Amino acid sequence: MTDQELIRAAFAVREKAYTPYSHFKVGAALLTKSGKVFTGCNIENASFSPTICAERAALAQAVSAGERTFDTIAIVGSLEGQVNSLPTSPCGVCRQALFEFGGPGLRVILARSEQDYQEFTLGQLLPLGFGPANLAE
Ligand code: THU
Repeated sequence: MTDQELIRAAFAVREKAYTPYSHFKVGAALLTKSGKVFTGCNIENASFSPTICAERAALAQAVSAGERTFDTIAIVGSLEGQVNSLPTSPCGVCRQALFEFGGPGLRVILARSEQDYQEFTLGQLLPLGFGPANLAE
């Protein structure tokens, strides 16, 4: 699985985003250490706060399938019908949710296209993240 293929999977699931309120469509593709890909889109709600981000939707798919060890997540997002100028960066809640399973080593790809993307680690995006290891002390 190349970075380009993972980004393509994120763009494909972005088409499924349910965004009648923000019209901002996000797709995420999560690659497991075993080489499987799980995808998710954002799902909004008339009551706003129950909205699920694409990253957590992908995580829920993966964990529900029994997967807990992840290598990379690719994230794409933009307003409907537009190409964004800024990369879509995961919100704080999603960083925390991903940290639970990926820890600081998870690769995070923020893509505007298959060719135009930046790569970070989750540790860069969430320094000193609180995870299961903290509770085990
Ligand atoms: N959103 C995501 O799905 N992931 C992100 O990384 C940023 C924000 C969604 C939530 C909401 O449906 C819309 O984008 C606008 O905030």
